Amino acid sequence: MCGIVGYLGDRPALPLLLEGLKRLEYRGYDSAGVCVRRPDGLSTCREVGKVAALEARVGKDLASFAGTEGIAHTRWATHGVPAERNAHPHRDDKSRISLVHNGIIENYQTIKTALESKGCKFESETDTEVLAMLVGELYEGDLEKAVQAALREITGAYAIAVMSVDEPGVMVVARKGSPLMVGIGLNEFVIASDPSAIVAHTQQAFALEDFTVCRLTRDGYRTSNLHNIPVTPKLMELEMKLEEIELGEFPHFMLKEIFEQPKALRNTLSGRVDMERGEIFLGGLQQIGRKLTHAKRIVFTGQGTAWHAALVAEYMMEELARIPCEVQYGSEFRYRNPIVEDHTVLVAISQSGETADTLAALEEAKQRGALTLGIVNVVGSSIARATDAGVYLRVGPEIGVASTKAFIGQVAVSAMLALYAGRRRHLSIEATGSLLTELDAIPDKIRQVTDQSEHIKSIVAKYVDLNNWLFLGRGYNYPVALEGALKIKEISYIHAEGMPAAEMKHGPIALIHDGMPCVFVAPMGSQHDKVIGNMQEVRARGGRVIVIASEGDTEIESHADEIIRVPACPEVFSPMVTTVALQLMAYHAAVLRGHDVDKPRNLAKSVTVE
Ligand code: M6R
Repeated sequence: MCGIVGYLGDRPALPLLLEGLKRLEYRGYDSAGVCVRRPDGLSTCREVGKVAALEARVGKDLASFAGTEGIAHTRWATHGVPAERNAHPHRDDKSRISLVHNGIIENYQTIKTALESKGCKFESETDTEVLAMLVGELYEGDLEKAVQAALREITGAYAIAVMSVDEPGVMVVARKGSPLMVGIGLNEFVIASDPSAIVAHTQQAFALEDFTVCRLTRDGYRTSNLHNIPVTPKLMELEMKLEEIELGEFPHFMLKEIFEQPKALRNTLSGRVDMERGEIFLGGLQQIGRKLTHAKRIVFTGQGTAWHAALVAEYMMEELARIPCEVQYGSEFRYRNPIVEDHTVLVAISQSGETADTLAALEEAKQRGALTLGIVNVVGSSIARATDAGVYLRVGPEIGVASTKAFIGQVAVSAMLALYAGRRRHLSIEATGSLLTELDAIPDKIRQVTDQSEHIKSIVAKYVDLNNWLFLGRGYNYPVALEGALKIKEISYIHAEGMPAAEMKHGPIALIHDGMPCVFVAPMGSQHDKVIGNMQEVRARGGRVIVIASEGDTEIESHADEIIRVPACPEVFSPMVTTVALQLMAYHAAVLRGHDVDKPRNLAKSVTVE
């Protein structure tokens, strides 16, 4: 999604803005732009494509961009194709206002029509230009007031940064729905859509709350609501470390994050499990522990990979805590007039904590009286703040667009949640303790899978030119099959379908042809024999069977064309191990096909629009 960076201080703004944009590249974008204040006005440059292209273009006229305040943007197209005229910053028609925006202005057409009738001439198809024009129209020498007035007329989501030619040394930022942080340095401010563009400069920051406007000058800042009533932001120390958002020795963030998973998972579990006493400590649940334990129904919600984690969570919660569960896409739940009875708990799962559909489902459930919990990675994100309680993943920043370590963290937290509720309902100390011991062993088992990266690559290399793959699994490994198919689609652009293995013969079996790769996620477990039956059905039709199988499973050998071995573990925890093999498959397939793994086409890291 779009990324915003802004700088106001004493240092040259341009290098800082470009560096910030590069740090936000992972969010996904198709064009970029920058505006820097010169002594006599504003210089703007916009370019389709990568930040590097923008940098090259600005580099031809550096003198015009020599100021110490500016705003910059990466755009992920919603209204209007990726084109220079649609890229940000946008301006009003007197070219006095420069504005960057992340989000969607829902009533932009009505406002546009009204502005056109007053003679405003638009050059883009975007909703953002309408907002820039509106601020310009309402501007009477005070940018903060003009922004507040404009935002009072807007419906939709926004994070914005605005400058006016007429007010040097002033930048106004605001937020509703889309994230925006203000980093506070010594006589300088760095604002950005997320902390990764701030941490290189300062650790002190605050996240803007919805409907908050902030006026920044070199002397300080002032925050208010849309009616100019002062509000006090909550200052925080950013915990993110620079090395966490840099590649180090890895060629891609995705690979780095796959290999980080043992350590990340250790962090997720650290201080939260006591194997001997069969206890789980989840500080975030202290106030609502009883309500969770007595829940009559749990609805898990999320999108994409987080939705797959929710499917695993459903199985875990029903098995370990015996609480009826269901899983809903946030995008479906929010519009389906959902039934929320007493003692319903909604659990929102999200890496970013900013996914618009998940957030909206959460708000809908809250309005209907549900207790809401978050399983979220990004501390202080919108979902984390909107829920009644929650548990953070603690897997560190995830930069790769294809989610990897966040999935493992989401499944691990779901397992802890299920054991937490299960222990309070019916699980014995011994049963809980022995499951926790197994859970504690998972990080090392993941490492045994990442150690096989080259073996996995050699298998993938044989099939990588084929454009249709199936991913199949049963029980806990059915969501893993879905996740494997999603991963390979996202970054290698191979068409893949994931499904419960039994579902294949109800239709998809018609697709199987000579040589078609069919990936079975088939570790030892309760439905192992059944999965072997499904493999035979594939082979009988000429399909090639690639199996993720447990170490020591000799029976599988005669049914498989290729085998990737994973260490044995209880079925309930197996998704955390088997998924890693599929992540590596997708990674190698994408690299072998020559794709930019960390910047897959059309994708955004966090989807903050519907
Ligand atoms: O930030 P979230 O976990 O809420 O994001 C949800 C999905 O958009 C996300 O998992 C997406 O499917 C990823 N590209 C998967 O790799």
